[in-house]
Amino acid sequence: MHLCGFLIAGPVVHSHAIWRNPAHETPFLSLAHYARIAQLLEQGCFDFLFFADRLAIADRYADSHVAGIRHGDQDSTRMDPLPILGAMAAVTRHIGLGGTRSTTYDAPYNIAREFATLDHISGGRAAWNVVTSMNDGEALNYGSVPHLGHDERYDRADEFMELAFKLWDSWDEDALILDRAAGLYADPDKVHYVKHEGRWFQSRGPLNIPRSPQGRPVIVQAGSSGRGKRFAARWSDIIFALQPNIERMKVFKTDVDAALVDAGRPGGSKVLMAVMPFIGTTRAEANELLALHDSLADPVAGLSTLAAHANMDFSGLPMDATVNEIAASGSQGNIAALRSITPDGSMTIAEAGGVYARGVMCPRLVGTAEDVADELIAIIDSGAADGFVVSPAFLPDTFESFVGAVVPILQARGYLRSNYAGGMLRDMVKGGAQ
Ligand SMILES: Cc1cc2nc3c(=O)[nH]c(=O)nc-3n(C[C@H](O)[C@H](O)[C@H](O)COP(=O)(O)O)c2cc1C
Repeated sequence: MHLCGFLIAGPVVHSHAIWRNPAHETPFLSLAHYARIAQLLEQGCFDFLFFADRLAIADRYADSHVAGIRHGDQDSTRMDPLPILGAMAAVTRHIGLGGTRSTTYDAPYNIAREFATLDHISGGRAAWNVVTSMNDGEALNYGSVPHLGHDERYDRADEFMELAFKLWDSWDEDALILDRAAGLYADPDKVHYVKHEGRWFQSRGPLNIPRSPQGRPVIVQAGSSGRGKRFAARWSDIIFALQPNIERMKVFKTDVDAALVDAGRPGGSKVLMAVMPFIGTTRAEANELLALHDSLADPVAGLSTLAAHANMDFSGLPMDATVNEIAASGSQGNIAALRSITPDGSMTIAEAGGVYARGVMCPRLVGTAEDVADELIAIIDSGAADGFVVSPAFLPDTFESFVGAVVPILQARGYLRSNYAGGMLRDMVKGGAQ
């Protein structure tokens, strides 16, 4: 079973209650907070952790930033993940380190440098969550209005990846010589111009960084529309998904497997499903934790995040209108998943605000550590996933109880490594090194 810890460098993750933890403050602007989480997840033998990211505060809801900023929604604060990952590399040795960057608002040369650098300084532990970005706020921040259309963003992303891969390949593996006596730094014949001239990008190259331990970062992707799945099937090592229940997980996994076959890469990518555990020493305690959590998740913050995901201001609709009235130009996959929760289309916008605030549709696994381990194992055994993106309800509390109580059960039952074998992240996610 592959495990990834889900993070955002801000007050909120999928759960919009995180920063309101009544037990203690959540110091989400401090490095110590992230260093502690990285070490904890490494203690739990997670494959990797990753920071989701977006490039704008949310202001689609009521065409204003007020709801999101007042209540602390998913986009109210997001620090840049890459510097934090660099610091995490210094305090860990094995766990993979993933960051999100956008193919719509960044340049291939920048991205190639950032992840080559992270891969070098972490000894082959870098991963890039490739996103195409979702909403007009992001376009406005980068002076690129209007936001490119949904499928066009993926077209641009295809060329972005082609160029990034060329840049990572521009240094041969044995180009760096470092013959100190002869004064030979590197072999110029093994460092290549890329001379890329495309529809979206021009870049001469080569990269100004020698080939990194993994050659390129592990590529993660989470598009869930048809076009998104085709993109992921072509490029990714890992696919993240968020599906509300095991039936939808199975449908998603079947679709992805077919897309991988179409892309000529059968079995070429692992599917990790997002889940949000609530772990108690008894079931009653887990249910109390869930109730406490949900009482702190403000539906207005959920509506603000939902509007940002849909890239639509639906505040003019009545609260009892159904979610079928929401037409997404942002994340098509997320809105389709929201509709699928009530197949008769009866979920109202008010209810969707609650669902989003409590965990953006992440299925919640509630019970003792045994119960949670049983559910994870059942999903793996059913073939609906290769692993999980563990999304916390409180930080670092959820990861503490998961690592302290669920991980030992998964290890004892042979579903999770008990220590790291010392390979690189790509070896780990391919199932090679355990
Ligand atoms: C676990 C997970 C993590 C994601 N992380 C991000 C993220 O960091 N930034 C982002 O803009 N979208 C993120 N997404 C959303 C997808 O990357 C994708 O942008 C979105 O679903 C739109 O693509 P689609 O229309 O193909 O579904 C994430 C989705 C999942 C399931």
